Amino acid sequence: MSQQTLVLIKPDAVARGLVGEVLGRLERKGLRIEAMRLRTMDAALADAHYAEHVEKPFYPPLKEFMTSGPLVSLIVSGDEAITVVRALAGATDGRAAAPGTIRGDLSLSNRENLIHASDSPESAKREIGLWFED
Ligand code: TYD
Ligand code: MG
Repeated sequence: MSQQTLVLIKPDAVARGLVGEVLGRLERKGLRIEAMRLRTMDAALADAHYAEHVEKPFYPPLKEFMTSGPLVSLIVSGDEAITVVRALAGATDGRAAAPGTIRGDLSLSNRENLIHASDSPESAKREIGLWFED
């Protein structure tokens, strides 16, 4: 079933010049880019986007990182896109993520891990609403 998912190419990817690399992997998989925007997350958007994490000890440095510079927000679509993009991204911790995944190949960090992807249809709907109000 075709789905939409919200993807963020995080500030570390922009700073490292890896936007094309990450985008290329999504495109080569056959996913479709439906919307794309470069912007810097502000504090309010960070708190809303990461509502499930705001009370966790790792949140303050995560917020600092995510608001530190521009990122690319995307609506990506395709068959089973939510699960497929999560699989392409790999495990959260880049040190543990499997080779062949975006994080496994390109990140050595549990925080600066290059990509966010919605984890369920409910998250996708909520996050697309946050990032693409229009
Ligand atoms: P989480 O939703 O658990 O991971 P994912 O991005 O794979 O869905 O966490 C959100 C982000 O928070 C994660 O991408 C990186 C950061 N993070 C940390 O900085 N430290 C941590 O211990 C965890 C679990 C996550
Ligand atoms: Mg998550």
